[in-house]
Amino acid sequence: MLEATEVKKSPYVIEWRDGFKIGVPQVDQEHRHLFTLVRALNLASVDQTVEELLDYVVTHFSNEQEMMEKSGYPAFEQHLRLHEEFAAQVADFLGNGEAWTEDRVQELRRFLNKWLIGHIMTHDLRFGKWHASHAVVAPPVIQQTTPASVGFFARLFGSK
Ligand SMILES: [Fe+2]
Repeated sequence: MLEATEVKKSPYVIEWRDGFKIGVPQVDQEHRHLFTLVRALNLASVDQTVEELLDYVVTHFSNEQEMMEKSGYPAFEQHLRLHEEFAAQVADFLGNGEAWTEDRVQELRRFLNKWLIGHIMTHDLRFGKWHASHAVVAPPVIQQTTPASVGFFARLFGSK
């Protein structure tokens, strides 16, 4: 039964495309890298790739949130909550104690791709449009992840 399931499934892959751009180069570049990391998820090195992916998610969320907050984006708080909800969903998935299988890796990849596309094309795009119509006098400084900015993730995933 398990074998039949595994044989018929091909890897679930959604490639980055220019249609996912929101027009903010730094954000677009980071989103593109997220797709690359999701694509790299595989059973052979799943712990390593999941860790790398989560680290980058934290960095990206922090950068995006910093940009929104500093530019005075009105929906910043709402957007922050969406990121936190995502973190909670990932934490639930990873914390359910199940062993990794090809199916579970595919399930994670599918979830991540779908969430990313839905989030980018709705909420990040909204920011992109707002950003384009509100000239920023000084470009926001992109900062690397700091311990304070990973607070919500650290709480959810525990300290490593
Ligand atoms: Fe976002």
